[in-house]
Amino acid sequence: MNIILLGPPGAGKGTQARHLVDTRGMVQLSTGDMLRDAKSSGTEMGKKVAAIMDAGKLVTDEIVIGLIEEKLSAESGAGFIFDGFPRTLAQADALSALLAKLGQSLHTVIEMRVDDDALVKRITGRFTCGDCGEVYHDETKPTAEDGKCDNCGSTNMVRRADDNEDSLRTRLMEYYKKTSPLIGYYYAKGDLRPVNGLADITEVQKSIEAILG
Ligand code: AP5
Ligand code: MG
Repeated sequence: MNIILLGPPGAGKGTQARHLVDTRGMVQLSTGDMLRDAKSSGTEMGKKVAAIMDAGKLVTDEIVIGLIEEKLSAESGAGFIFDGFPRTLAQADALSALLAKLGQSLHTVIEMRVDDDALVKRITGRFTCGDCGEVYHDETKPTAEDGKCDNCGSTNMVRRADDNEDSLRTRLMEYYKKTSPLIGYYYAKGDLRPVNGLADITEVQKSIEAILG
């Protein structure tokens, strides 16, 4: 079963994807994580995208489609969770073609609905374990022990360079201009299932479980 988690920055895509990996053995394909890995390992591509990402703009379709194509042929599991991909209509068409080539299809597109005021709070309070990737929040999901990851015990906590109000404004603008048309696109295809992303993390998990069955 292959699914897309679709929603604006801070909607909870990464948080919910991790839960589905843990409970169902699905494979999370986050283009944001892939690009951040390329950035921190200093590859040519990473250097090329760093400033674009920090400013909150979308990187080119060609780069992200290439990343997804590489992963789709290398990974397998109980289905893929596309987190932060596709983000443009060209990416959506490329995904259909890539899945068709592998004899696979898309099961559901989960639209995570959150209002813009909540997103600012979520983004400015977010931090992540630099070792295992667990996602936290200063207020809604703090670590049990200050500065120590509940999941792996690491004290290497990181905040993203684009998690500030200026970049968030650009990220939101990119979302509304280029990504939100995908809501209509997948609705028309009959694949779209909305969930209330404003509910507690566990409530959102339950809504997604109910959709996936
Ligand atoms: P990406 O990494 O995908 O960032 P994003 O879409 O901006 O989304 P976020 O990761 O910020 O949010 P999320 O929905 O995963 O929320 P999270 O679960 O962390 O992309 C980064 C950049 O890479 C882009 O700007 C672009 O430059 C580039 N890029 C990536 N993909 C691309 C593509 N396909 N094409 C072109 N460019 C691309 O949660 C956020 C916070 O809220 C956390 O602190 C969490 O604990 C908290 N939280 C989560 N759920 C809840 C809840 N229900 N209640 C309360 N708090 C919650
Ligand atoms: Mg994310």
